[in-house]
Amino acid sequence: MRGTLPLYATGLALFAIATSTLRAQALGSADERARELLSRMTLEEKIGQLYLPHNDADDNALRAGALGAILNASDPARSDKMQRIAVEESRLGIPLFFGRDVIHGYRTIFPIPLGLACAWDEELAREAAAISASEAATGGYNWTYSPMVDISRDPRWGRIAESFGEDPLLASRLGAAMVRGYQTPQEGLPAGMAACVKHFAAYGAAEGGRDYNTTLVPERELRDVYLRPYRAAVDAGVFSVMSAFNDLDGVPCTGNEWLLNKVLRHEWGFEGFVVSDWMSTVEMIAHGFCADEGEAALRSLKAGTDMEMVSKSYINETARLIEEGRLDLSTLDERVLSVLRAKFAMGLFEHPYRTPGREGVILSKEHKDAAYRAALQSAVLLKNEADILPLKAGAKVAVIGPLADAPHEQLGTWCFDGRDEDSITPLSALRDKLGKGRVVYAPGLEYSRDESRAGFAAALKATKSADIVLFFAGEEAMLSGEAHCLADIRLPGAQEELIKELATSGKPIVLILMTGRPVVIGDIEGHAQAILAAFHQGTMAGPALASLLCGEVSPSGRLPISWPRHVGQIPIYYNHKNTGRPPKPEEFVPINQLPRMQKQTSLGFTSAYMDISPLPAYPFGYGLTYSSFSYSKLERSSATMHMGGGIEISATIRNEGKQSATETVQLYVRDVTGSVTRPVRELKDFRRISLAPGEERRVSFTLNSSQLAFTGLDMREIVEAGLFRVWIAPDSASGLEGSFELLP
Ligand code: BGC
Repeated sequence: MRGTLPLYATGLALFAIATSTLRAQALGSADERARELLSRMTLEEKIGQLYLPHNDADDNALRAGALGAILNASDPARSDKMQRIAVEESRLGIPLFFGRDVIHGYRTIFPIPLGLACAWDEELAREAAAISASEAATGGYNWTYSPMVDISRDPRWGRIAESFGEDPLLASRLGAAMVRGYQTPQEGLPAGMAACVKHFAAYGAAEGGRDYNTTLVPERELRDVYLRPYRAAVDAGVFSVMSAFNDLDGVPCTGNEWLLNKVLRHEWGFEGFVVSDWMSTVEMIAHGFCADEGEAALRSLKAGTDMEMVSKSYINETARLIEEGRLDLSTLDERVLSVLRAKFAMGLFEHPYRTPGREGVILSKEHKDAAYRAALQSAVLLKNEADILPLKAGAKVAVIGPLADAPHEQLGTWCFDGRDEDSITPLSALRDKLGKGRVVYAPGLEYSRDESRAGFAAALKATKSADIVLFFAGEEAMLSGEAHCLADIRLPGAQEELIKELATSGKPIVLILMTGRPVVIGDIEGHAQAILAAFHQGTMAGPALASLLCGEVSPSGRLPISWPRHVGQIPIYYNHKNTGRPPKPEEFVPINQLPRMQKQTSLGFTSAYMDISPLPAYPFGYGLTYSSFSYSKLERSSATMHMGGGIEISATIRNEGKQSATETVQLYVRDVTGSVTRPVRELKDFRRISLAPGEERRVSFTLNSSQLAFTGLDMREIVEAGLFRVWIAPDSASGLEGSFELLP
């Protein structure tokens, strides 16, 4: 059965609104126009639409219609020229897509997606994407390879930095919001910049966190966890989907007919186009799935990959495949139609050129303010012993650590267009805010992997001269991102040693983590009175961190991932199954405290390690503020819910502290018994609320039976009657607990 018509269709509706009704009628629908155009195309022109080269294209190739899009064409004047040749000098005048990885900003760099996810704020994600699109348009781009919504449960995987973390609901909401943001009408285009959701599918499940690695995800888990955010992006009207590099249960995604044709198109009703990842078509040869380029082209065309990125198997092989009768012309036509339809729906035929002279939007005050707000919201306060933060008035601070003044590193991964010189670092922002006299700077280490102790003495001296240490620890930008995976995710270089050295001074230490992943904090946790996880926050990291540290704004970020204590715990995620023998965290005894000569049965028989607690260092959803909130009076509108109906679950949240702060109230559910086992908790909704000291608010969530659906034994979505537990909670490991019964 076909899914509901995706919002993609609203692209058409917007298109009709953007032009006059009369004109829209004259133009007909994108589909009709695409079919009409297709009927006039030669075989070479059809194949050309499916080719996506990078950097530049030959003028003659453009005139011949030998390509459909171009990636990373970085000179806007040349891009404009190329578009003019394609539109004005080729036989059919088909405009090109100009693609770019605009992942977390173009010139105004926002926090990396993992950081942005900490804000749990769809409107912020939408705004960041809309700003990115408006700046990227000045570079001549009309298509971005974002959002990446791959669920990631493994911080060793470098691309966790680009993800929204481990939860399908959070990733769905943020991914859909970014699609709406990029595709905001702009410059006459009904969808300003076409988004591309990636990497379809389950790329984040790479075994061992090694990029490009095999993924083995059973279909039920695929549907219930991994596929949900891509589906949300499709429902939000995303124009394109990128097929992933990985093989999924033995079938590379780019040649996976089940995934692309059955699930994406047939079940979900996707009407945009699928682009391969970089050479992922011909990489099916290395996978051992295709013998040669001809077979690679055949399998990916048949599977439903419309456009080939960089490699040329379609260009080189398609005509021969048709001639030999191995590929039907109708299959090729379907692929071409997908691309043409998107170009018509985008409005590219009417608005092929980007308006010149709009560079003023770049790094505008409005854009920097938004990046500042995003950075503020993306910092997660993990620890704040004895309210050591915010800094006390008049305190003298020692600014230490390799990330304190590292303009390049704070931008994070995937930053083609951001410039180091636009970054404001924590050091410069603190000097501005506190005055130079109150800031003594001694980095201690020159860069994150630095192993030299040469700067230790100066750092210790600075520490002794100050009241408190602000240690800006972290990872260089290049330690995360594509193909940048790590087996050891502790702070690199001699950072741990330096922190221990500074701790000998007895001065309190605030650890600010500027990383691309949750790093294992290990035993330095005990040396830090406060820990602020900031990730790589982009251009405005400095001003945002300075405001937070000085207490002008309370931290409000929440973890979108479970933060591991030890690399050996991975994968560790909150929405796991219970097992028949769940661990008992309260009974955990560190291995060195176990008595000798114990019997085999001494520890009971539960699913746990002997040498590390079963709990993460910090759970999914966790984050402190400078205030504290109480949760009380959990109520449900009814003890029972009817199939097709819903109930209200509410609680009172009160700011018990002395400062205004923002709390992210989370709704979790557990389906106690199912025809298949169900997770111990699943996030169903969340709401950010800001409360003044002493203020309280009743927060009410509507929970419908459709939100309780999962994939049943026959792989169809079902909702099963029975008992459900429900929590309104500040994080995934605590909260007020209630229950209700879903009646058949
Ligand atoms: C990455 C994609 C990216 C593409 C184009 C690939 O290597 O996996 O995420 O969009 O390159 O740069």
